[in-house]
Amino acid sequence: MTVVDRLIALTLPLVPKSVVRKVANRYIAGESMDDAIRVAAALNTLGIRATMDVLGEDVHRFEQAQAAADEYTRLLEEIHRLQLDANVSIKLTQFGLKVDKRDCYELVDALLRRAASLRNFVRIDMEDSSCTTDTLAIYRRLRRDHSNVGVVIQAYLRRTQRDVAALADLQPNYRLCKGVYVEPRNIAYRDMPIINLNYAAILERLLRNGSYVGIATHDEMMVWHAMQLIRDLNLPPTAYEFQMLLGVDEELRDIVRHEGHNLRVYIPYGRDWYAYSVRRLRENPRLAGYVLKAMFK
Ligand code: FDA
Repeated sequence: MTVVDRLIALTLPLVPKSVVRKVANRYIAGESMDDAIRVAAALNTLGIRATMDVLGEDVHRFEQAQAAADEYTRLLEEIHRLQLDANVSIKLTQFGLKVDKRDCYELVDALLRRAASLRNFVRIDMEDSSCTTDTLAIYRRLRRDHSNVGVVIQAYLRRTQRDVAALADLQPNYRLCKGVYVEPRNIAYRDMPIINLNYAAILERLLRNGSYVGIATHDEMMVWHAMQLIRDLNLPPTAYEFQMLLGVDEELRDIVRHEGHNLRVYIPYGRDWYAYSVRRLRENPRLAGYVLKAMFK
């Protein structure tokens, strides 16, 4: 990222929402479930799997959490009806984690039951570090009754190696990503080379432990490292998949796919697009160019 890109990333809250929306369009399927289904179906025809995310987080009332759970239930039913190769990704703060942990657990538990009856799978995204302990505790508890649930871990967190050691007995189905939230230095590594080394070390540990891993990255170095590891460990395609975000580096996505690896694309949709869009834009190395173009067009 250039200095100008970094400056714009820092001042994104000052950029008009209409401009953010225009630039972030590429990352979001649309506002409705139909939009997301269309994108998932198109990816499926290319042999690419999907995971679908109803945008929204940090709800303050139980009714909002219930509404999110209802939307996800309908989404799972649509996926089943249309026989899409797709699962769903949820955020616990959208299910009321910060309102009442017990209610949050109950809502996710009910969603997992419905997903199981439709032979589908639910991935719990990982949010900022104020949620890590509770998310992993709820994940552990859910695993007592459910096998169709996975969780996300973040390579930038200093605690992650300890977390995966503590969860090893469950052999979780993981998504491993670098981590996107802004965290203080005592909680998360700041240096990209360290994050990358940690990513590589954790990935090797998980694959050796027999966990299914969603290798979520657009960093070609990490993709290269993962492919090397997959070859060295002689892993079958059922042991892992690559995962990428809608709107990011489709060229790399095609390369991974053409090398014969399974790939899943994360498809967000909904009206609550702002927070997700800002996170994505902050990571876009060509942010300044896009924002300036959108402002003056
Ligand atoms: P890195 O940030 O180094 O990017 C590598 C390259 O990818 C960049 O140089 C650029 O070319 C391209 N790129 C990356 N982001 C881009 C963007 N927005 N626009 C354009 N180009 C871009 N995080 C989290 O904290 N909790 C979670 O639950 C998830 N879930 C999740 C699911 C999936 C499927 C993916 C792929 C990622 C996540 N993430 C996440 C986000 C993740 O933590 C991370 O922030 C991003 O994936 C960017 O990190 P990379 O590994 O791609 O490397």
